[in-house]
Amino acid sequence: MKNSVSMDTIVSLCKRRGFIFQSSEIYGGLSGAWDYGPLGAELKRNIKDAWWKANVHDREDMVGLDASILMHPETWNASGHTQNFTDQLVDCKACKRRFRADHVGDSCPACGAKDFTEARAFNLMLKTHLGAMEDSSSVVYLRPETAQGIFVNFMNVRDTSRKRLPFGIAQIGKSFRNEITPGNFTFRTREFEQMEIEFFTHPGEAQEWHKRWIEDRFQWYVNLGMTPDRLRLRKHGEDELAHYSVGCTDIEYEFPFGWSELEGIANRTDFDLKQHAQFSGKDLKYKDSVTQEEVIPFVIEPSGGVDRATLAFLVDAYHEEQVNDSPRVVLRFHKKLAPIKVAVLPLLKKSSEIVSKAKAIKADLQKNVTCVYDDTASIGKLYRRQDGWGRCCA
Ligand code: GAP
Repeated sequence: MKNSVSMDTIVSLCKRRGFIFQSSEIYGGLSGAWDYGPLGAELKRNIKDAWWKANVHDREDMVGLDASILMHPETWNASGHTQNFTDQLVDCKACKRRFRADHVGDSCPACGAKDFTEARAFNLMLKTHLGAMEDSSSVVYLRPETAQGIFVNFMNVRDTSRKRLPFGIAQIGKSFRNEITPGNFTFRTREFEQMEIEFFTHPGEAQEWHKRWIEDRFQWYVNLGMTPDRLRLRKHGEDELAHYSVGCTDIEYEFPFGWSELEGIANRTDFDLKQHAQFSGKDLKYKDSVTQEEVIPFVIEPSGGVDRATLAFLVDAYHEEQVNDSPRVVLRFHKKLAPIKVAVLPLLKKSSEIVSKAKAIKADLQKNVTCVYDDTASIGKLYRRQDGWGRCCA
């Protein structure tokens, strides 16, 4: 089922209804940053809760973690981000604008000139300084992925949770990248949230677990009502693989701007644990409490974006209906994701008896579900308003 809604329609709907606003809008906005309004904050929270429930609470082989955004700078030397987390950039010599080398053809997309500088590597990590001194000794980075917080805590979690292989650690949190070309609304931003799992397995079982996680993660989106025809798997070619990965399959969604990545599921081998063991000088081998076997586990990493999932669920929920020859927009969400589960709308707002009963019902319901009370318009308008805020449809 092809998606016919345009991104302009989604962007203006999100602003009008209070799902997503431009960051710092009153100052003209900040490129690559967005704010979630009252309905957007509920939707995003529901997506994260559904992810945490499916991947942590409902499984025996997973535990959660909430690591800090700021990490020891050596982390990024060990992970390879200092050297490899780069885009190739060129400058147009005529208009001085800067572009990703793979985004320009023969001529400058801005002014048409054909005179570029040589491509040079630009690191995407955002830098800041800790403490009072602003020199090279105080540089730290805002994490570009949550994954490394999991790897550096592998020993702590292994020792305290007493999990035996295979087991995984899940984390949801903010990441930051100095993207050269943020765009497509919240699809590519400079500040975003990730939902990441690092699943540790015996090296010989990694392939099998990779397959299982690809299936599980695909099914998660379908279980939450996403149209299966707008989802597909795409296996990376050799030339696309990140420096740490020997295999990766993306889950893609058919956005209005085309098929694009929601989540990647990579086989990271034992790269990260080996690197951190070497750089920290700590023993990060897994020692089995029963068999006494010692091994550096392989890692399967399902890594998705909260903002991309939120955008895809919003696009997927968008429906137009004809009611009495006039169009009506309805957002049809799975009941676990709908920002508001129940609306209490009194038929007669002039009847104090009905109003107080309706308010009592709302007070009772809100102990368990998100609900609203509304008596500020005619019943037809109130229904329509609720359809625009999102209807539970599964
Ligand atoms: N730890 C692996 C990792 O970070 P990635 O493919 O670079 O892999 C994983 O990112 C997911 O994070 C992506 O599938 C996407 O959903 C989300 N993501 C990455 N960069 C993003 C950005 N600039 N804006 C929004 N989401 C982003």
